[in-house]
Amino acid sequence: MTATPQAPVAVTGAEGFIGSPLVEALVAAGRRVRAMVQYNSFSSFGWLETLPKEVLAETEIVLGDVRDPGSVTGLVTGADTVYHLAALIAIPYSYRAPHSYVETNVTGTLNVLEAVRHLGTPRLVHTSTSETYGTALTVPITEDHPINTQSPYAASKAGGDRLADSYHASFETPVVTLRPFNTYGPRQSMRAVIPTVIARVAAGERSLDLGDLRPTRDFSYVKDTVAAFLAVGTAPAEHVVGRTFNAGTGREISIGDLVTLIGKLMDAELEVREDTRRVRPAASEVMRLLCDASRLRAATGWAPAHHLEEGLARTIEFFRDPANLARYKTDIYNV
Ligand SMILES: NC(=O)c1ccc[n+]([C@@H]2O[C@H](COP(=O)([O-])OP(=O)(O)OC[C@H]3O[C@@H](n4cnc5c(N)ncnc54)[C@H](O)[C@@H]3O)[C@@H](O)[C@H]2O)c1
Repeated sequence: MTATPQAPVAVTGAEGFIGSPLVEALVAAGRRVRAMVQYNSFSSFGWLETLPKEVLAETEIVLGDVRDPGSVTGLVTGADTVYHLAALIAIPYSYRAPHSYVETNVTGTLNVLEAVRHLGTPRLVHTSTSETYGTALTVPITEDHPINTQSPYAASKAGGDRLADSYHASFETPVVTLRPFNTYGPRQSMRAVIPTVIARVAAGERSLDLGDLRPTRDFSYVKDTVAAFLAVGTAPAEHVVGRTFNAGTGREISIGDLVTLIGKLMDAELEVREDTRRVRPAASEVMRLLCDASRLRAATGWAPAHHLEEGLARTIEFFRDPANLARYKTDIYNV
């Protein structure tokens, strides 16, 4: 008798900043991965193209689109766990193209929920974001903090979250929602502030155009966020299913202080100018985010393992490698 092949784990958004190290971590944990890469005319597999061949040997890459129900059903069929990370994520672009955010982040999530419901998939991890809380009313932010969506991006992510909750309530769909706070590290796009600063400095610039320097954020190193995904994806169902979990460090830093810290770590004297294109409309700016992750710690034992200084040092090392830096457009505003 031949052994039944192990069911794969399905990942959406697998070619992205967080998705690609999640694929690596799943393979390192002994899993086969079916990885959805958004269909595109360049046959680009995004960051998956840079993974070691041993990882790719365990990864089945499927071109598709979460907006297309058939594409999602094909991805999920036979999988025992789905990690749903695919999303449009940039806040500035959500001001310009809100319909595409609803189609991807709301309808796309609905398509994943429907597939999991009808195929009887044992576990779905849905990805939320700390942006759904808006400016903190109380700190640290627990999962009971009110939702206040200050951008079309945040609203579309909260829409996906509400659908996930409703599918658990209505159909007992075994979904768990992970709500990461700001994440940074190698492979992040220059739409976010940390790669913007580090890549520009690595490219030799010393004068930086940035948005508002006052807001604070709770920054997690990407490996810690990936560990949080694995924690909620593998914990016993009775501990996690039907629940939402914050993931963050419990430390906040203003963007201004962060830029100073990066300058110090890169041994660079920086001049910062405010670029009005990068400043969000006042009521849309989230001024403060600070995470309480005690629910996640209690349910799974997860805890962040990287201090900000250590994570930044690893990120700087990544961007200082000319082969990595060459993948970025350091001379334009990346929306
Ligand atoms: N980076 C952060 O700080 C952060 C914080 C909280 C939550 N998140 C969430 O984590 C997830 C991953 O974000 P990321 O930072 O890795 O961004 P990313 O842009 O690198 O990853 C998102 C991926 O989704 C894919 N995608 C977009 N539209 C798609 C579609 N229609 N069909 C299939 N795939 C599609 C993109 O190609 C991309 O690879 C997102 O759900 C995001 O909302 C990110």
